[in-house]
Amino acid sequence: MKSPIEVFSNWAISGKDDGMEKNHFKSVMKMIDLYPNKNNFTCIDAGCGNGWLVRYISKMKGCKNVIGIDGSIEMIKKAKSLDNKNNYYCYDLLSWLPTQKVDVVFSMEVFYYFKNPNIIIKHICNNWLKKGGKLIMGIDHYFENEECHFWKDKIEVEIMELIKINEWLDYFKECKFKNVKKYQFFPKKNWKGTLVIEGTKV
Ligand SMILES: C[S@@+](CC[C@H](N)C(=O)[O-])C[C@H]1O[C@@H](n2cnc3c(N)ncnc32)[C@H](O)[C@@H]1O
Repeated sequence: MKSPIEVFSNWAISGKDDGMEKNHFKSVMKMIDLYPNKNNFTCIDAGCGNGWLVRYISKMKGCKNVIGIDGSIEMIKKAKSLDNKNNYYCYDLLSWLPTQKVDVVFSMEVFYYFKNPNIIIKHICNNWLKKGGKLIMGIDHYFENEECHFWKDKIEVEIMELIKINEWLDYFKECKFKNVKKYQFFPKKNWKGTLVIEGTKV
C-alpha cells in the first residue's frame, strides 16, 4: 500500500492524471455554478492535481487570482509545465497557509485521502477563506455510493476514508460554516452521483 501522494505522483508520471479532468469535468462545472459571486473573485484549488481546474478558472472573466496546491511534486511539475501564468505550490494541504485569504476554495476528490477530513475542512475554513467565502467540495468516494467501495484496494492506497454523507455534513457544520448544503450530481443506476457539499464562512 502506498501513500496518496506516492500514488498520484505515479499517476502524473504515467499520464494517468489526464483521465481525472475527463472524469471530473461535468461535476466540477456544477460546483462552479454554485459560486454566484463571479466578479473579481480569488480562488484556491485544494489538491489541484495537474492543474486543469486552475487553468479553467483562470480563464473565467471574473477571476482575479487562482492558486493550485497539491502534495505531489510530480503533479505540480506537470501543472507548471502546462501553465506559466498561474501559481502552483507543492505542500500538504494541512501545513499550507495562503498569504491572503480567498473568496472560494474548490476541492474535487481530495478530502477522503485524509485520515481525519474534519481537520482539513476546519483548517480551510479558519485559515484560507475570507468571511463570506465558500468551500465547495466534490467527492465520488463516499459510503452510500457502493460502486466505489472497492477503489481503495484497486488503487492500493493507504488512506481512502469511506464516510457517510451525514458525517461529511457534520464536518462542515462543526466549523464556522452556515448555509451548508449537499447535492448529488449525475446519479444513475448503481451510482449515487458526485456528492457536493458547500458552506459559507460566517
Ligand atoms: C484524485 S486526485 C484529484 C486531483 C484534482 N482535484 C482533479 O480533480 O483532477 C487527488 C489529489 O489530491 C492530492 N493529495 C492527496 N492528499 C494530499 C495532501 N495531504 N496534501 C496535498 N495534496 C494531496 C493528490 O496528490 C492528488 O493530486
